[in-house]
Amino acid sequence: MDASPRRLVGIYPGSFDPITNGHLDLIERSCRLVDRLIVAILRNAEKQPLFSVDERIAMLSEVVSPYDCVEVCTFDGLLVDFAEERSADVIIRGIRAISDYEFELQMALMNRRLRPQLETVFLMAGEAYSFVSSRLVKEVFSLGGDIAGLVPPVVARRLQERLLVKETARS
Ligand code: PNS
Repeated sequence: MDASPRRLVGIYPGSFDPITNGHLDLIERSCRLVDRLIVAILRNAEKQPLFSVDERIAMLSEVVSPYDCVEVCTFDGLLVDFAEERSADVIIRGIRAISDYEFELQMALMNRRLRPQLETVFLMAGEAYSFVSSRLVKEVFSLGGDIAGLVPPVVARRLQERLLVKETARS
């Protein structure tokens, strides 16, 4: 009989364009639930991202470096196939408000239909971040609003660099 304890592997998929403090809060809390957490960046999203996949990998890798149990990688195709490839037991997703729930439920049920043995676990977003999304952060920042405390410092730096490049190109 195998006496070694079972190790739970979680997969936290997303676009992470860019990672916010809301994502980071979820990663921290997920680390208390699973033994290993794979943060998986979707490569072929239909939407036009602000940051390239390589830039998103770099930002995420820097931000999660204090967490030994976290690995950052990318995936293509169906999430359930990638989860199987990586022997993940659970998909972790965050829910901020009721508005997130409908789409998240749809995805969770579709993923369950595709691979019934893979569970989806929803974590409630931290109260401080329940209004934070990558999309809003990008919009507020591009219009000159203050995003301090909403994204990790490396992301704030990268956004600033992006803005400078844009302004230089315009002048
Ligand atoms: O950060 P996002 O954009 O909300 O993440 C969405 C993501 C990446 C979790 C979702 O689009 C996904 O899993 N895409 C992979 C393709 C797939 O498996 N589609 C069927 C989902 S039911």
